[in-house]
Amino acid sequence: MQQPERFSDLPEYAFPRLRALLEGTPAGGPLLPMSLGEPRHPLPPFLGEELARHHDLYGRYPPNEGYPELREAIAGWLQSRFGIAGDRADPERHVFPLNGTREGLFAACLALVPERKNGQRPAVLIPNPFYQCYAVAALAAGAEPIYVPATPESGFLPDFESLPEDLLARTAAVYLCSPANPQGVVAGMERWKGLIALAEQHDFFVFADECYSEIWRDAPPPSALQASQEMGADPERVLAFHSLSKRSNLPGLRSGFCAGGPKAIAAMRKLRAYTGAPLPGPIQMASAAVWRDEAHVDASRALYHEKFAMADRILGNMEGYRPPEAGFFLWLDVSAKWGDGEAATLHLWKETGVRVLPGAYLSRPSPDWLGGGDPGEAYVRIALVESVEDVERGLTLIREALG
Ligand SMILES: Cc1ncc(COP(=O)(O)O)c(C=O)c1O
Repeated sequence: MQQPERFSDLPEYAFPRLRALLEGTPAGGPLLPMSLGEPRHPLPPFLGEELARHHDLYGRYPPNEGYPELREAIAGWLQSRFGIAGDRADPERHVFPLNGTREGLFAACLALVPERKNGQRPAVLIPNPFYQCYAVAALAAGAEPIYVPATPESGFLPDFESLPEDLLARTAAVYLCSPANPQGVVAGMERWKGLIALAEQHDFFVFADECYSEIWRDAPPPSALQASQEMGADPERVLAFHSLSKRSNLPGLRSGFCAGGPKAIAAMRKLRAYTGAPLPGPIQMASAAVWRDEAHVDASRALYHEKFAMADRILGNMEGYRPPEAGFFLWLDVSAKWGDGEAATLHLWKETGVRVLPGAYLSRPSPDWLGGGDPGEAYVRIALVESVEDVERGLTLIREALG
């Protein structure tokens, strides 16, 4: 199976594909969007005041490395949330504010993946299905993206450990998303430690996409940074990514950060100094206040708990339903009745006006040596981001139309 090698060969992005699928088919009811993962819970109540208080900073070019106030707030959060000690979360050296994690997840390959690894073209390992930015990042850096299936058989996380030695030898970086979009599973401490040990053995980076870490059901998910600290691993091994988009319902603020070793952070800073734009000053200052506050995060999580319970109640005995551990997506296997996610998405739209995303728009067909098939094809992804009332209505319609 030949994978696209150039940006121009990539399929259209997931949401234009969804629009094309539904175009020409009238909705069977009022539009109820459950396709896009755009958090819709209330914004932190103090945000407007903070932005206004610092609006004079719009008159200054913002510092690329971030204002000290923001870097200190981020380092403090890493300490209080994950117990990351000062020598691994020094605001001067270990953290870098981003315009949302997407910026950094893309830049990381350009900044850190070498042109050759052990004399060969480097490989970047990517879970399949995956957040689409990872693939473009790998290609942009001249690396070969390898899509490693994350299926029911592998516990919905990719099994990097069993990849061939020659592939691991040319692997320069691995992306792992935990809590995982779209499957909602969590990489526990042992899983992170295993991956970091593999990375040490084969000398590659771990890019830990942890932007859903604050939306969980029973226990807060660990960070790869914690695992790295507990193992006493080289701090350069892991670069972790966090965001206010999901934690604080601020996808429009464009504010996140990455944290890792001083050399990796310096490379990320250098790349953006040449090519990018730092976060505007007022956004940096407001973000600092948002990272320091947990009350709004707790309130938002409580709303997700209501929605998780609702999903269990409404879809609990539907074939293909699996309660997520974290994040705000349901990854529903619709293959038994509908064959694939596209057919189910179209039927649901036609019957009810509920819009979900076919799983295959987030995945790639697997080559035979990785098991073949397409690990997203059987699924639809359902986002639990609208109001509690709308989510209840949407889930009920899904149950009636697809169940
Ligand atoms: C897995 C994953 N990573 C990263 C992002 C990027 O989020 P942001 O750039 O808003 O922080 C998203 C957003 O949907 C996501 O689902």
